[in-house]
Amino acid sequence: MLGALDVEQPAGWNDELELVAAVDVNPDPDIVEVELEAAITDIEIVPGAPTPAWTYNGSLPGPLIRAKLGDKIIVRFKNSLPEATSIHWHGMRLPNHMDGVPGLTQKPIAPGGEFVYEFEARDAGTYWYHPHIDSAAQVGRGLYGSLVVEDPADSEAFGDELVLVLSDLSIDESGQFLAEDAGGEFGDLFGREGRVLLVNGKVLPRLKVRQGKQQRWRVINAARARYYSIQLREHTLTKIGGDNGLAARSMQTNRIVLVPGERADIVFTPSDAPGTVRTMQWIPTERGFGSLYNRPREDMLEIETVAESPVTPAAIPELLREIEPIDLANATERTLDLTIEMETTRHGREVVMGINGEPYWLSKPMEAQLGETQIWNITNATAFAHPFHLHGYFFQVQDDTRIPEWKDTIDVPSESSLRIAVRFDERPGVWMYHCHILDHADSGMMGHLFVAGEGEHAHMPHIELIH
Ligand code: C2O
Ligand code: CU
Ligand code: CU
Repeated sequence: MLGALDVEQPAGWNDELELVAAVDVNPDPDIVEVELEAAITDIEIVPGAPTPAWTYNGSLPGPLIRAKLGDKIIVRFKNSLPEATSIHWHGMRLPNHMDGVPGLTQKPIAPGGEFVYEFEARDAGTYWYHPHIDSAAQVGRGLYGSLVVEDPADSEAFGDELVLVLSDLSIDESGQFLAEDAGGEFGDLFGREGRVLLVNGKVLPRLKVRQGKQQRWRVINAARARYYSIQLREHTLTKIGGDNGLAARSMQTNRIVLVPGERADIVFTPSDAPGTVRTMQWIPTERGFGSLYNRPREDMLEIETVAESPVTPAAIPELLREIEPIDLANATERTLDLTIEMETTRHGREVVMGINGEPYWLSKPMEAQLGETQIWNITNATAFAHPFHLHGYFFQVQDDTRIPEWKDTIDVPSESSLRIAVRFDERPGVWMYHCHILDHADSGMMGHLFVAGEGEHAHMPHIELIH
């Protein structure tokens, strides 16, 4: 039998899934320079009833930006939306003033305004970009795109790469967006899951595979609230990494849950017999109060195993990367309690979410000194799960049952707690952390951290926080 490395993917294997690629306008092989314009574009999701999506360069998702380890990335951004926006580079270790958080790291980019983002591709991995103003609404309408930093040293056995951006859209049968506050306080509490599921901007696209011929899936959950579980009976999934590139070891599994903002790097080994068509479904995931109740599965992606003879899968290395545990000898401890309160305000009854009881707009910054290592004890006594995300730094989850990897987004299930260790080793400034269910973030479950530079006091200048 032929081996996986001796054959190509089936003809047209990714035709329905290929993302629009960002065009690199810079001839320097070590600089990736692209132009991005945010604008409203009609996209046909419901046949015959275009949706006025919010897009980057007119595509949904936005263009895939691809760089190799060590490249410089320059993004010339123009805002042609009717509202102010910004771009945050989720997971990238970049200088603070490039982080794209209006109010903290830059001014909002007004309609007609421009901004040049410039940073280095320091870490191989799968990243993504999205606005950081009115995020639930702007991301929910389609503003997100992927960014892949390749490591030329990666094993060939991982297979041909396929970037999968998972998202959903809150549109009705005529393709129009539902009101931003649809569902009222329940929408805030549960987070708004769109009615239409998209994989790379398409409804139920089809992927072609050949039995035994591996594909490397870089999966990104770009939905504003929805959890995804990647689960495929009969086929084999091997998780090789996530947020920040490769994990310490590969692991064969039959289920990978991705919370909003999180990424997974998976080697997919097709195991169905030639001629099989199987549908990968969205499967309800436990994320607290009522999230499993009465939820049907939904079709997401069709996988057609073509009628070519099977090949022998390549052997995936077990050891992938050296990941040194963060030295906790002088670590200081912090407590972050994710909180939800119902408050009666002059607008009526409102859901106010926060951290340690304070919504973002009333919060005091956490503080750290450059070089300091901290352990964050994150507790979640609420009835809902919260995907916790930190900007600017990767952390290590303190849990011996997990394969070591660097993370920037992690689920904190309802009624549970976890410990993350993070070293603020460089790049002083003001960094965000928040729940990545964007309805929760907008309801106040966000905070900011001031990392004081050398000789600076761990005390932040006063900033008026944007509500
Ligand atoms: Cu993708 Cu502040 O987040
Ligand atoms: Cu981020
Ligand atoms: Cu949350």
